[in-house]
Amino acid sequence: MEIIRMPRIMQDTCWRYRMKGRTLGFVPTMGALHEGHMSLIKRAGAENDVVVVSIFINPLQFGLSEDFEKYPRSAEADIKNLRERGVDILFVPDLKLVYPDGFSTTVSVDHVSEKMCGGFRPGHFRGVATIVAKLFNIVCPARAYFGQKDFQQTVVIKRMTKDLDFDTEVVVCPTIREEDGLAISSRNLYLDEVQRKAAGALYRSLTAGAEAIASGTRSAPEIRKIMERILAGENLITGIDYASVYDPETLDEVDDIQTEVVLAVAARIGETRLIDNLLVRT
Ligand code: PAF
Repeated sequence: MEIIRMPRIMQDTCWRYRMKGRTLGFVPTMGALHEGHMSLIKRAGAENDVVVVSIFINPLQFGLSEDFEKYPRSAEADIKNLRERGVDILFVPDLKLVYPDGFSTTVSVDHVSEKMCGGFRPGHFRGVATIVAKLFNIVCPARAYFGQKDFQQTVVIKRMTKDLDFDTEVVVCPTIREEDGLAISSRNLYLDEVQRKAAGALYRSLTAGAEAIASGTRSAPEIRKIMERILAGENLITGIDYASVYDPETLDEVDDIQTEVVLAVAARIGETRLIDNLLVRT
């Protein structure tokens, strides 16, 4: 596995592969790699000639009161893991080379960035869109892989890719879950044993909503109540940012459930904010 730290060298290396007619499958990450990331890497390997992974904890997507400083870092274990999975190129850029002095350009994706998490994490999706646009420009992958767990992020990135004419297919892969349904996430590492158990309530609330839709409920307010009741019934959940029903393309909240919707929740357990979602077809 080639490990590259300088954006310009990364750009040249990727360009050389593309010139030889090789397709690049790209998995951008912030490290602390887990089975969710590994599923993206596996899919990238199955669909492309060359697998490229980046690890960069992007300060631009963390709010002032958020967890940038304490975000889990496990560089050595990550590198070992990536080697074992047969990744071809790892890009680990230095902060100063990604955002040099004077850096002043950002990418804002209106509307879809303001929904769901947007109200609770102002600026977050601008940070995500900016770093992903930069990485796409450096790697120019044929395909880039993201997990459905961060559903809003996938919608924002798909919109940006289309709007800015990136020649990259955005591939959204299924959420990988623990046995009790908890979506695997680097932030699960913040939970102690009791909190970890309580976190199962997020998936329970989503499945209860999905079951009610499957049984014929078409009123989104009804579904919201069902999901909120389950979250509120878990003592260790200290706050519910949202538990609602959205249009999967516009991310507008819906009232009547017609063809396809996304049920999404964001809740806090202690200091840890967790999100999850399910796509449901009627
Ligand atoms: O999902 C993530 O890990 C990050 O938001 C991403 C896409 C790597 C951008 O920093």
